[in-house]
Amino acid sequence: MTDFNRLYPESKVELTPFTLKHYDTLLNVGTFGFYKSLIRRAIHAMNIRPDDDILDMGCGTGRNACLMAKYLSLNGSILGMDISEIMQEHFEDNCKDYPHVQFRKQRIDQPFDLNEQFDKVFMSFVFHGFPQEVRHIILHNALRHLRQGGTLNILDYAEFDVRSTPLWFRIPFKVLEGKCKYAWDYLEKDWKEILFSYGFNNFEESFFIRNHLRLLKAEKPD
Ligand SMILES: C[S@@+](CC[C@H](N)C(=O)[O-])C[C@H]1O[C@@H](n2cnc3c(N)ncnc32)[C@H](O)[C@@H]1O
Repeated sequence: MTDFNRLYPESKVELTPFTLKHYDTLLNVGTFGFYKSLIRRAIHAMNIRPDDDILDMGCGTGRNACLMAKYLSLNGSILGMDISEIMQEHFEDNCKDYPHVQFRKQRIDQPFDLNEQFDKVFMSFVFHGFPQEVRHIILHNALRHLRQGGTLNILDYAEFDVRSTPLWFRIPFKVLEGKCKYAWDYLEKDWKEILFSYGFNNFEESFFIRNHLRLLKAEKPD
């Protein structure tokens, strides 16, 4: 597939070539610089330990991986995974100073097996953009690649009712996700209940932007 033949035409997480090329700049400008501090706070809340092995599914440009890498010793590692060749170029360039940070071009919406396990699986603003049956495949991929006691870390929309959100959030949400039925459907799900049905427990939540975004941490039991 090329960078613009969408697998899920209604989804907004498969980005246009222009957005892929200028992703970090567009986010910086579109959020008045707020995105960087949001992602810093979310990554801080993950409680990364120096020896952690982290799988970043739908990793994008590597900006998040570089922020996570600052918490790691050389015994830790990050594997970023993305479908896009343009993101691969950004990632490899941004992370070139971190030998323990690697990229793999890989679809996360199909079953895969890396034959290794991780302490943390991270997904940031990716998971909402898939049909529910595909999200189950993604969750199986995450579960299969987590060590016992490891955590799944989903940074994404929290559960809220768009109609009752303030205009300063509702308008950008509708501009971004207005035509993405998956994002709307995502808001209505009880994700802790769904993850509990997969065996996850010890949930921890950190909320951002007045409870509209959430880092949801869930532990794979021993
Ligand atoms: C909205 S961006 C988020 C990027 C990054 N996680 C962040 O927080 O900045 C969504 C990313 O998911 C990737 N993506 C979309 N569909 C994918 C798939 N099926 N498999 C792997 N990556 C995918 C896109 O290429 C893009 O880099």
